[in-house]
Amino acid sequence: MSLTAPIDGGRVERLRGEAHRVLAGNWRQGSLADGTPYGFTCPAPPRYRHQWYWDSCFHAIVWRHFDPARAREELRTLLRGGRLDGFIPHTIFWHDNAGWRRAPFYATHSVRGNRATAHIQTPFLAVAWELVAEASPDEPNFAAEGLDALRLHYDWLDRNRDPDGDGLISIIHPDESGLDDSPKYDAVFGWMTHYRPGYFWLVERSRRLRYDSHAIIARYDEHVEDVLVNVAYALSLHAMARLTGDDEYRLRAARTERALLELCWDEERGLFWDVAGRGHSPQRVSTWSSLAPLALPSLPESIARRVIEEHLLDPGRFGARYAIPSVSMEEPSFRAGWHLFRCWRGPSWVNTVWLLAPALRRFGYGAEADRILGACVELVERHGFREYYNPVNGEGLAARRFGWSTLLVDLLPVAESGTRAHADPPFRGSVRDELWAMGAEAASETRRRLGRALSGTRSRNGRRRRTAPTRRG
Ligand code: GLC
Repeated sequence: MSLTAPIDGGRVERLRGEAHRVLAGNWRQGSLADGTPYGFTCPAPPRYRHQWYWDSCFHAIVWRHFDPARAREELRTLLRGGRLDGFIPHTIFWHDNAGWRRAPFYATHSVRGNRATAHIQTPFLAVAWELVAEASPDEPNFAAEGLDALRLHYDWLDRNRDPDGDGLISIIHPDESGLDDSPKYDAVFGWMTHYRPGYFWLVERSRRLRYDSHAIIARYDEHVEDVLVNVAYALSLHAMARLTGDDEYRLRAARTERALLELCWDEERGLFWDVAGRGHSPQRVSTWSSLAPLALPSLPESIARRVIEEHLLDPGRFGARYAIPSVSMEEPSFRAGWHLFRCWRGPSWVNTVWLLAPALRRFGYGAEADRILGACVELVERHGFREYYNPVNGEGLAARRFGWSTLLVDLLPVAESGTRAHADPPFRGSVRDELWAMGAEAASETRRRLGRALSGTRSRNGRRRRTAPTRRG
């Protein structure tokens, strides 16, 4: 999928070059003491130094444009980090065990000495595998090479995460979707949600049950059949059907798509909701995950049009000036700007655009897709590949040189000149630089809020009055 609006070749080439530099700078390779090799892209050093499941899928999708061998190594490394029963972790600590300092923040089996977490992340692996295989004429065996492991993985998800057999898989921790602190989890996980202190208890509780999903789901009601996770699951099952030629996966994908319509679609509101607990209670908080089914091949057009026209393009909801906010702007929980440990409560992310812009185009909204992509190009040209951006004022936020923001180049036309980008030597970053950057962001956010509070509370004649905040920053 590519941008059809005019963007000159020079700009595309510059963005590609910068994206290649970001990925090359974040590339880590080596081997464990037992000789196991690894090669992956860390999302953004020094803040994110490890291998994350869905980040790696996105990185591989972009690497295939520059260096398919690295794309393959990224995905092979992810498989290598998994278990023989098909479980693949959310985070893998290849070059650094999760010790006592990190343990509270990562859902590991024990507080010491784990090579990886014991929970999952949004399962895009088969989608990435298929795209990388298509870009691998130099290694035609790549597609077949991963099939046994991929089968095990998607069977593990089915066996372990769909105990009620309805076709939708469940997450047992909010960050398993990758949308860690999204307000859609506030009601379900309450004090145990990702950014609250009780998250440590949620992890501890799973540890005590050895992360046995059946036992956890049977004993506790805090689990979610998450729309975005299941969209990724269905897309991956479709990719599996194409990779294996096995009709079973097509039927499984169709079942998941049907279940999303039957259990998650809200005809009145025109949106999809996550359903939580044994009672499938709908979580009515409008986030970009409610729009994600637009990426499904079988979505009925009438439903797609409602989601697009009533929500995605509505300037009061998701139709922001800059890309697509992670939470609808009309939600009371919407926050556009930077907040410590909170990132999915409003800011715009590039992976959202990567999933939704092609869907918009497929349903005939090409001009709107171009507008959103154009805004993304502007954001990256102004601020570089940041972790996320303020959808209201376009500020670049949080980590710099963030790996998956390079997904933008997957949406741009391939430069006709055919020139290849040159990668600089790895950027390793320093904790001091990163802390400095975080401090500067916090200071700018505080200044902005103070300024707004002062101007917003002065009436024309200079007396103070209360104003209703419209777009919280
Ligand atoms: C944050 C994001 C998560 C991502 C991780 C590494 O925790 O919420 O989705 O995988 O960073 O980039």
